[in-house]
Amino acid sequence: CIDIAPLYKDTGHFTYDPGFGSTASTKSAITYIDGDQGVLMYRGYPIEQLAEKSSFLEVAYLLLHGELPNKTQFASFENDITHHTMMHESHKNFFQGFHHDAHPMAMLAASVASLSAFYHDDLNVDNPEDRQLAAIRLLAKMPTISAACYRYSIGWPFRYPRNNLEYVNRFLHMMFEVPSEPLELSPVCAKALDLLFILHADHEQNASTSTVRLVGSTGANPYASIAAGITALWGPAHGGANEAVLKMLEEIGSPDKVETAVKRAKDKNDNFRLMGFGHRVYKNFDPRAKIIREMCHKVLAELGVNDPLLDVAMKLEEAALKDSYFVERKLYPNVDFYSGIIYKALGIPSEMFTVMFAIARTAGWIAHWIEQHETPGSRIGRPRQLYVGADKRDYVGLDKR
Ligand code: ACO
Repeated sequence: CIDIAPLYKDTGHFTYDPGFGSTASTKSAITYIDGDQGVLMYRGYPIEQLAEKSSFLEVAYLLLHGELPNKTQFASFENDITHHTMMHESHKNFFQGFHHDAHPMAMLAASVASLSAFYHDDLNVDNPEDRQLAAIRLLAKMPTISAACYRYSIGWPFRYPRNNLEYVNRFLHMMFEVPSEPLELSPVCAKALDLLFILHADHEQNASTSTVRLVGSTGANPYASIAAGITALWGPAHGGANEAVLKMLEEIGSPDKVETAVKRAKDKNDNFRLMGFGHRVYKNFDPRAKIIREMCHKVLAELGVNDPLLDVAMKLEEAALKDSYFVERKLYPNVDFYSGIIYKALGIPSEMFTVMFAIARTAGWIAHWIEQHETPGSRIGRPRQLYVGADKRDYVGLDKR
């Protein structure tokens, strides 16, 4: 029996809430979620409207500044980003130290952390202009660094960003263009990727955003804070789920094997879970999953791709939604259930899926980092614990043990 009285003497109360299921760590004006109703809004705008009418860069502006930009503000924002897309030439040398088959998320986390080594000295986290500059640099350089991670992993030389292209197209060119062959991209590719970026841009206090805030609360620089977010995103229970979903669908292989997979997912003696199912907050449906499912069918049709994994995914969704185990636990497809099939159709390899997520989520991470620094009286994040270890005991010398 633990005496918890000393734990609450500072504040008058003490809560034990494993996984922070019912504890708000902060106030925020950025993103609203109603998990029971399946509602998601960025700065008050429903995700469905932004997905249909907006662009990722406009959404990034909205998350950072709280309002949609007018034409002049948007042109200036886009211009600022375009002028920071290059990686420092010395930064490229970092890649030579990585093993050729390193996971792109490992290279991304290390590369973003290393931005501190290039841009730390001229940065004062208490200065609003410096914070905005860091935001621009991160949004601008994430696609360049991400494409470099991919090209390094397949042994291709890096491509410089083509600044006459807009954000998503520029990224696709850095990923796939080779010098002798101009890249012919279907407009549907850029549109689909832009939509996925909008849907992944922010999601209030998820594990990676909370990590960015916790690291940011110590006064750490934004590059270190975002790098911490990237590592938190990597896990399969969070952003790594998109890569895990595709692996799972490939392992299941065909619609007739779906029943066995569902049976395994319900077996408490089996570690297997249906990846891309379930969410801590959404207990009705994930509004992003609805939009992505629709987009998935459209992209495959427009690109003329016939992917048998889509049949497996649809059969799995149908089987799970009819099964009492999933219904009782309110486990529905989440944002990552169909996103991997779209990425695959765009030619993006599965090891890069979580990197895609990270490019988009950078907008949310940096908006939260800025909000935290703009909030008067922000304190260092310092969770408590419930000690369950040994009672007080006396040290015994090594010769007596
Ligand atoms: N397959 C099978 N059973 C599941 C699944 C699943 N995907 N998800 C949850 N459950 C079960 C649990 O075993 C548990 O059952 P029990 O009550 O009998 O013990 C119950 O549902 C509740 O699950 P928790 O793990 O307690 O739920 P939590 O809110 O902590 O976790 C999470 C949410 C991590 C998303 C979980 O549903 C999961 O692991 N899903 C698969 C991974 C995934 O898709 N992650 C992406 C999330 S979205 C994102 O981060 C972008």
